[in-house]
Amino acid sequence: MERIAVITSGGDAPGMNAAIRAVVRTAIYNNIKIFGVKLGFNGLIHSEFQEMDVASVGDIVHRGGTILRTARCDQFNSEEGLKMALEVIENYEIEGVVIIGGDGSFRGAKDLSRLGVPAVGIPATIDNDIGCTDFSIGFDTAVNTALDAINKIRDTITSHGRANIVEVMGRDAGDIALYAGVAGGAENIIVPELPFDIDEICADLNDGKERGKLSHIILLAEGVGHADKSNRAERLSEKIEAKTGIETRATILGHIQRGGNPSMFDRILASRMGAHAVDLLSKGIGNRVVCLVDNKIIDKDIEEALSIEKKFDMELYELSKILSI
Ligand code: F6P
Repeated sequence: MERIAVITSGGDAPGMNAAIRAVVRTAIYNNIKIFGVKLGFNGLIHSEFQEMDVASVGDIVHRGGTILRTARCDQFNSEEGLKMALEVIENYEIEGVVIIGGDGSFRGAKDLSRLGVPAVGIPATIDNDIGCTDFSIGFDTAVNTALDAINKIRDTITSHGRANIVEVMGRDAGDIALYAGVAGGAENIIVPELPFDIDEICADLNDGKERGKLSHIILLAEGVGHADKSNRAERLSEKIEAKTGIETRATILGHIQRGGNPSMFDRILASRMGAHAVDLLSKGIGNRVVCLVDNKIIDKDIEEALSIEKKFDMELYELSKILSI
């Protein structure tokens, strides 16, 4: 291939810039012209291309967000939108596309491949909800951001003898809650993948108080509240306070989890995945998703990748129960 393009799509994730840099520099290293597409699939439809050179990705490996910007694009899901994108791709003589984003973005990659434009997906989402890869770009940084907040919350609640429900992102997945909960020593972790019993949580709080514990952190994944609004952090904290008499506050971390400098793990993952995606396209191979499995970078057919269900790590969850006694 002589001309390829790179897109970031869906919600941004820390490490997307490191992935863009890896794609651009690996392409240039292999004498392939590389174009950045602005604002996700919108840019593909509306012809927002810019040729990238080595310097265009300088000074970004450490920055959160995405220099190409991103968007969710419904138009791309229609045959008409796809047709428009194909015309633009033809005009620019683009022979392959790298799409950095979540599983919604991979459907776009699949459609392009089906229509004859080899496309490769790179998983990037803080949610870590993509079944084909052990980790997606951005998850590690988001967990570290949540951890930093949990440490600070622990300081203040210990001073006051309070409990705090910390609500983290993750859409319908509980991975951010699970990992931040284990690493932050949370007393309880509530995730959408598993049922929970508020009375058991209250009993844990009361036991802790009897033993002289001065703080209690409950990690709550936002997806639990998606299913039932009465389980959002504010409401849950009111219910728990009413049942235990222990002052319980709620903290919703929100979009701070999406920003910030990517961690070492995310920068390395993004660098390895970006380079692998270009290697595939340079051999004319598309319709693949790049994955991390047992710390090896591999690739899978998109259809197969999309069909792999995300497994919740029950072993880690059970460990969290033992360690929080
Ligand atoms: O997918 C990433 C994510 O941050 C989810 O954790 C969250 O549910 C959603 O995006 C929020 O979306 P938006 O930024 O569009 O409000």
